[in-house]
Amino acid sequence: MKTVIIGMLATEKDAGHGHRRWARWRPTVALCRQPDLPVARLELLHEPRFRGLAEQVSEDIRSVSPSTTVRLFPLERVDPWDFGEAYAALRQFARHYPFNAEEEEYLIHVNAGTHVARICMFLLTESRHFPGRLIQSISPARSDRKSLGAYRIIDLDLSRYDPIVARFQEEQLDAVSFLKSGIQTRNADFNRLIEQVEKVAVASRRAILLTGPTGSGKSRLARRIFELKKTRRLVTGSFVEVNCATLRGDAAMSALFGHVKGAFTGALQARPGLLQAADKGVLFLDEIGELGTDEQAMLLRALEDKTFLPVGSDEEVRSDFQLIAGTNRDLAAAVRPGRFRDDLLARINLWTFRLPGLGQRPEDIEPNLHYELEQFGHVEGRRVRFAREAWGTFLRFAVSPDAAWSGNFRDLNGAIVRMATLAVGGRITLELVHQEIARLRTAWRTEDNMRKDSLTERFLGPTRTGELDHFDRTQLEEVLRVCLRAKSLSEAGRILFAHSRKRKKSGNDASRLQKYLARFGIRYADIWAPSPVDSAPSDFPAIQA
Ligand SMILES: Nc1ncnc2c1ncn2[C@@H]1O[C@H](COP(=O)(O)OP(=O)(O)OP(=O)(O)O)[C@@H](O)[C@H]1O
Ligand SMILES: [Mg+2]
Repeated sequence: MKTVIIGMLATEKDAGHGHRRWARWRPTVALCRQPDLPVARLELLHEPRFRGLAEQVSEDIRSVSPSTTVRLFPLERVDPWDFGEAYAALRQFARHYPFNAEEEEYLIHVNAGTHVARICMFLLTESRHFPGRLIQSISPARSDRKSLGAYRIIDLDLSRYDPIVARFQEEQLDAVSFLKSGIQTRNADFNRLIEQVEKVAVASRRAILLTGPTGSGKSRLARRIFELKKTRRLVTGSFVEVNCATLRGDAAMSALFGHVKGAFTGALQARPGLLQAADKGVLFLDEIGELGTDEQAMLLRALEDKTFLPVGSDEEVRSDFQLIAGTNRDLAAAVRPGRFRDDLLARINLWTFRLPGLGQRPEDIEPNLHYELEQFGHVEGRRVRFAREAWGTFLRFAVSPDAAWSGNFRDLNGAIVRMATLAVGGRITLELVHQEIARLRTAWRTEDNMRKDSLTERFLGPTRTGELDHFDRTQLEEVLRVCLRAKSLSEAGRILFAHSRKRKKSGNDASRLQKYLARFGIRYADIWAPSPVDSAPSDFPAIQA
């Protein structure tokens, strides 16, 4: 096999005039003089303006290594610092070069030329456009400048390269495990989901939507995605988190988009707002379904143009953030009554990940229980273990259909913390387990009843409710729901009679609602008497006026 070297001219290191040039190490010349590397041919690529130098190097090689043929290839009109141009030119060269792998062995010289050219040479060799191995010339020690230095051949196909590939795979596994807090989950669907989240987190800056029941880990996953991006240096800014349910009325705009000094009464200082705080980082809008429609419009614009207007300002502010949205509502269902903008939904649901509740992945309950127990140990500084029989009993209950785990990780965490705290001598006994199971059952039953609890029954009592027609009962139920979520009688009236109000121009919605309620002997004030929002079931639809 004949050895052929393909390389760029090193315009500085290969340079030199007069006899003094022989006193310096010149990488291209030195490569052709290595005693154990007979080079049959050197293909010397160069910019046309260095033609003179290329010819001199070629002549010098011929004088010290007569058996080496040197051919010069000018790379026309190429800026060697422009990645696109350099890559295209080298690829062009590779495409037309008559490689003859049967008779010739190719070595691609990777440490000559601009850094851009070197990277291109590497990439083209790795992709087999250059069907050869890399050769790296190594300069001699400073004290021995006249010597030939050395060389190293790097085969990208060889096992030396495999560890790098393996390392990449390992890094991906590490990242997936990081997203799962190191818990060895077994549910195949869940594992696939998290693998996809990892890929998207690393590769995309587009919005991500995390859905799933309460306590399924949306908030925690959002933070982990941010942390993963941070370790990969994909974000330099901060993680800014806000629960949209806490943003109400006029304050919502200013909290999100900021305001200028004097924008409204009480705006004594300018305030930057959360979007700006998330610049170059991640903004996590939890319960995004609760966002008001004005805020939704502004947010959409901020996502599309990366600019928005703070309250009271006519100067646009720029912020480049990645949005992660969380919700446990069906946003598509909220689009129909106009509570959620469909264009915003389209923008944020490119990557929608639905986190399953614990009940949907019973095989993961065991590893999660181990995890919770370990966490308790870390936080409290003492190790707690289950007695053997206690563990078996609790696990059987935990994976059975009896266990609702309706608060998901919150319930699981609560159960472990309670049992571990009460464990005397670090042992969770069978008795503690029985107590905890009873406690969980009661809690879930109460929640369940709350959910099924009819509002009509709450205000009319079971007897009178039983006397109502189904027609009246369903209508009253819905009206009461709206009343409970609205901030005032007028707001509830506006929501309930929105369309007839538009058609009629005027009309008193509040009194119309009052009259309707009076038919059942209910006064609006009664609905609000016993802190109704707190006692309202958690799955009530959000209502925006
Ligand atoms: N994979 C997990 N393993 C163990 N604990 C978890 C996991 N994910 C979340 N948790 C814990 O469970 C609790 C609830 O999680 P988180 O707040 O992320 O849920 P959520 O889906 O955002 O709930 P909500 O809809 O109510 O906001 C937190 O204390 C969190 O630390
Ligand atoms: Mg949350």
